[in-house]
Amino acid sequence: MTMAAPVPPVLKRRGKQDEEEEWMGYLAPEKLEVLAHLEPWAEAHVLPLLKPAEEAWQPSDLLPDPAALGDEGFHAACRELRARAAGVPDAHLVCLVGNMITEEALPTYQSVPNRFEAVRDLTGADATAWARWIRGWSAEENRHGDALSRYMYLSGRVDMRQVDRTVHLLIASGMAMNAARSPYHGFIYVAFQERATAISHGNTARHVGAHGDHVLARVCGAIMADEKRHEAAYTRIVGKLFEVDPDAAVRALGYMMRRRITMPAALMTDGQDADLYAHYAAAAQQTGVYTASDYRGILEHLIRQWRVEDLAAGLSGEGRRARDYVCGLPRKIRRMEEKAHDRAAQAQKKPTSVPFSWIFDRPVSVVIP
Ligand SMILES: [Fe+2]
Ligand SMILES: [Fe+2]
Repeated sequence: MTMAAPVPPVLKRRGKQDEEEEWMGYLAPEKLEVLAHLEPWAEAHVLPLLKPAEEAWQPSDLLPDPAALGDEGFHAACRELRARAAGVPDAHLVCLVGNMITEEALPTYQSVPNRFEAVRDLTGADATAWARWIRGWSAEENRHGDALSRYMYLSGRVDMRQVDRTVHLLIASGMAMNAARSPYHGFIYVAFQERATAISHGNTARHVGAHGDHVLARVCGAIMADEKRHEAAYTRIVGKLFEVDPDAAVRALGYMMRRRITMPAALMTDGQDADLYAHYAAAAQQTGVYTASDYRGILEHLIRQWRVEDLAAGLSGEGRRARDYVCGLPRKIRRMEEKAHDRAAQAQKKPTSVPFSWIFDRPVSVVIP
């Protein structure tokens, strides 16, 4: 999970109490029952999207193995790894480190669906399909940070202490999420995020491959494939909610999009750079790892997946307004992208040189929006 938070237009904000009431309605027993009833469906259609541990790749498959290679062999493999990693430009390295730090804050993400009423894992070892999904998904996610972190450590290109410290601080800071207890809102958030992550790791794989590090490209590609499966699962869950309760689903989508999908690592800090997240997001935008157009593209994709434009039957007035707002949003974001582009061209926005502690304060040239 990662990156830039473009700024789609926000409608006139209502009072805090109205806002709370809007999503707290999703915690009514009859709404939550929908999720409980869907458990057999989740067993049949969501759980199969996990990969059994016996078949799944592990970080150790992608990295030099000191036990198998022996002293000489291991050192030779590390020298090769370092030679390949040396070709990755600093701007891409910063994106990679940011992606890795985001993945490493996994304890925060496992607690996200465990906040959703009706699906959370009440005992920590529940046998429900929902609880098994949450744990199985986290177990797969756990490999992402591990693979990237070990790779980075061996590459010798990053200040591991600063990176570790950023992970420490990020987990301690947590993440803020709108409507955090509602499964409707929450699953929409995660579906969006998984796709964002897949895009980001996929782009990174392409870039580092182009700069000669095909092993790192394979690591990022393996992670991307996982994220795509996770995206499919969460998109399917929300798709089901659109089927069984379209009015509630579209209103939840409207609610989330009005408040923007903020990124999970938005609270990251390294104890030095007060704008670290913004700088990392700018590097992602600059290198094309994750951009404002990706945000719009994800929204367009989800609108198509959930057939939001075709919704009509059974919608309340509020539901119709949410549908129209969501369907009109990509066009508004596109206009903002064009304006930002024109403004940047007019002002000839100069890139700023930003030092990143993760890479020993070497500067990376980014355009701060
Ligand atoms: Fe991940
Ligand atoms: Fe993920």
